[in-house]
Parts: sequence; structure tokens; C-alpha cells
Amino acid sequence: MKKIVLTGIVLAAFNINPVQAAPLDAAGASKLLSKAGCMTCHTTDKDKIGPAYKEVAARYANPSPEILAYLKGEQPVDYLVKKVRTGTKPKLNKNWVKSKAGKAYGLMTPNPPSKISDADLKDLITYILTLK
Ligand code: HEC
Repeated sequence: MKKIVLTGIVLAAFNINPVQAAPLDAAGASKLLSKAGCMTCHTTDKDKIGPAYKEVAARYANPSPEILAYLKGEQPVDYLVKKVRTGTKPKLNKNWVKSKAGKAYGLMTPNPPSKISDADLKDLITYILTLK
């Protein structure tokens, strides 16, 4: 059983591909982030209510076993597009990951299509995952 779980994690690791060509440049991304209201809770470099986008990128560029288990074989971009749409589901992922300082984050409210379209959201997440 343990072996099966480990094999799953290793296979998932091979499929993880967080860095794809960014469809947005920094200026385009910044415009979308402001328009959709993401910057109320996030910044690029520093934790605010939610994690810094650079911390999010690092999380998926070098995923821990906890994060691989969480992704269940999904690509980070696909998982994150859904997650940002629905917001934090408290039962599933309240404080599932802590900041570097060990502080638990709050909850992300849902971000509906009236705030950001499917295409823009996917471009934005793809961009966020390229940050260093
Ligand atoms: C009301 C505050 C708030 C708003 C608005 C918000 N977020 Fe968040 N976000 C959070 C919090 C808090 C977390 C950490 C808790 C969690 O991961 O569920 C988070 C987590 C995230 C993560 C990491 C999720 C993970 O599972 O690794 C990403 C990516 C993200 N937000 C992107 C966005 C984008 C893009 C927008 C705008 C469309 C946005 N957020 C709007 C509060 C917010």
C-alpha cells in the first residue's frame, strides 16, 4: 500500500510542469490583478491576507509531498484556476499551507467570472507560476 502511494507521488512529480511560456507580461498581469481585485489580498513579494505570488510560484515549482498529494496528479495551473474560482473551501483546505513565517493564511473568497473571465484567469495563473 505504502509502495503504491509512493509510486503515485513519484509519477505525479514527473508530470508536474509549473513553468509554461507566460502569455502575459508584468504590465498586463498587473492590470488584470487590479481589475479583478486580487491585490486587495495579495502582493507579488509579500504575504498580505493571502500568500505572496512569488511564494505561490515557489510552492509549485518545487512541490513538497504534501502539495503533490494535494494536486492528485493535476497540473498546478488547472488546480489553481479552479481553486481561485471557488475560493478556499474551508473543510478541504482551510490553512492547508502556512506561510514561511509559520502563520496560517485566512480564506480566499470566490472570484466569479464577473470579476475575471476563464481565459484571463488561466493566463494570470500561468503568469503567477513563472514568478521568481
Ligand atoms: C479576500 C481575499 C482574497 C482575494 C480577493 C483573492 N485571494 Fe487568493 N488567496 C487568499 C488567501 C487567504 C489565500 C490562502 C488560503 C488558500 O490557499 O485557500 C489565497 C491563495 C491564493 C493562491 C494559492 C492557492 C493554493 O492553493 O496554492 C493563488 C494562486 C491565489 N490566491 C490567486 C488569486 C487571484 C488570481 C485572485 C484574483 C482573481 C485572488 N487570489 C483573490 C485571499 C484572496
